Amino acid sequence: MSDIKVVPAKGKLGILTPGLGAVSSTFMIGVKAIIRGLGQPIGSLTQMGNIRLGKRTDNRNPKIKDFVSLAALEDIEFGAWDLFEENCYEVAKKNHVLFPDLIEKLREDIQDIKPMKAVFDPHYVSRLSGTHVKKGKTKMDLADQLIEDIERFKAEKGCDRIVVVWCASTEAYIQPSDVHTTLEKFEKGLVNNDPAIAPSMIYAYATIKAGYAFANGAPNLTVDIPALTQFAQDKGVPISGKDFKTGQTFMKTILAPGLKSRMLGLDGWFSTNILGNRDGEVLDAPENFKTKEESKLSALEHILQPDLYPELYKDFSHKVRINYYPPRGDNKEGWDNIDIFGWLNYKMQIKVNFLCKDSILAAPLVLDLALFSDFAQRAGFKGIQEWLSFYYKAPMVAPGLYPEHDIFIQLMKLKNTLRYTQGEDLITHLGREYYD
Ligand SMILES: NC(=O)c1ccc[n+]([C@@H]2O[C@H](COP(=O)([O-])OP(=O)(O)OC[C@H]3O[C@@H](n4cnc5c(N)ncnc54)[C@H](O)[C@@H]3O)[C@@H](O)[C@H]2O)c1
Repeated sequence: MSDIKVVPAKGKLGILTPGLGAVSSTFMIGVKAIIRGLGQPIGSLTQMGNIRLGKRTDNRNPKIKDFVSLAALEDIEFGAWDLFEENCYEVAKKNHVLFPDLIEKLREDIQDIKPMKAVFDPHYVSRLSGTHVKKGKTKMDLADQLIEDIERFKAEKGCDRIVVVWCASTEAYIQPSDVHTTLEKFEKGLVNNDPAIAPSMIYAYATIKAGYAFANGAPNLTVDIPALTQFAQDKGVPISGKDFKTGQTFMKTILAPGLKSRMLGLDGWFSTNILGNRDGEVLDAPENFKTKEESKLSALEHILQPDLYPELYKDFSHKVRINYYPPRGDNKEGWDNIDIFGWLNYKMQIKVNFLCKDSILAAPLVLDLALFSDFAQRAGFKGIQEWLSFYYKAPMVAPGLYPEHDIFIQLMKLKNTLRYTQGEDLITHLGREYYD
């Protein structure tokens, strides 16, 4: 039994996204479409998922959204920042993810979602240049402007609560450095315009300082630095990241645990993709791809545990490629060639060809992360939310812990966290009670 009291979701929830691109527009329009009965929230655990409570024989399987207090879709207000001025309707018309007739039907609902000026630095995203960008003498000035934006949005829309989900482009690769180690050094760095402070970190800092939850859908370091994880803990704010787990890595975290569960060995896993949207264009720059590559590579190593199983997984070769190929737009195609071995070392191969729609897979994840982050804050959870690792390619964890990548363990962790908040028994799957 827990003594957690979750404050009920009353009033409006503001969801703000740095980045008004393919993912965020598909997410926002999708929610509007669902409210109007023009589509179903497929892919969203908060909207479609059930949760078992008690014994299998109890037949208690409520919908998650009926079991815990989540914001209703009708109570959500959307806002965004971007370096381009197009509103949500114009963005959606351009990126060709959703059918034009659906976008037209919802025009009235979405054309007022206009981005606020971005905090942008071309050193971190060299392939983009826009004019809808904030000016400030220091990075601290920019953070202050973001806080003003958030508070203005909140007041204008009459929101009670705010969540920020990073849906902007993947930034160039950086490693944690001294300025990221403590809040004091970080704040000094903001005042001194330290080049190691990326725009996404300024958004994260501003959000935490204003007292709101932050989730990071891209692989950038962003909030995954000691200065900001500690800040979130101190401010009582939930944070999570990194990088939505949607296509190829989603498949990897389904298949790899299965291979390992049967003690089948792996010689190599080659993954390649073609992608033609703006995300693909940004990732065509080697410094930005490096950030994505690190995030995509980490899952297999952690799932397979080569140190524990050297005969099966030592030195397996793992390659990930993303090729920018404009004709495909948002319709990414991924190929995986998996070289495995079985009994007596006999070799076999598995081929996966996933023709997916990137933003269609990502949109429900943005919704769930926003709703669960808001829930976490109302439950008094603060700092890193490991129970949300289900949604991420490179889950954030406490120092010294390895991240849990196996999607089935991640789901169990998520559901047990929800049970825990409501004082329900955790489900261990031991099941002896049915036979005793
Ligand atoms: N779609 C997926 O399946 C998926 C999966 C994992 C991660 N992601 C990540 O989600 C992010 C969004 O993907 P997308 O397909 O919507 O990309 P997108 O290029 O369509 O949209 C990103 C938007 O962010 C804007 N932007 C860039 N830097 C900004 C800044 N500093 N402040 C405000 N806006 C800024 C860009 O102008 C663009 O409009 C990317 O980082 C991508 O890698 C997507």
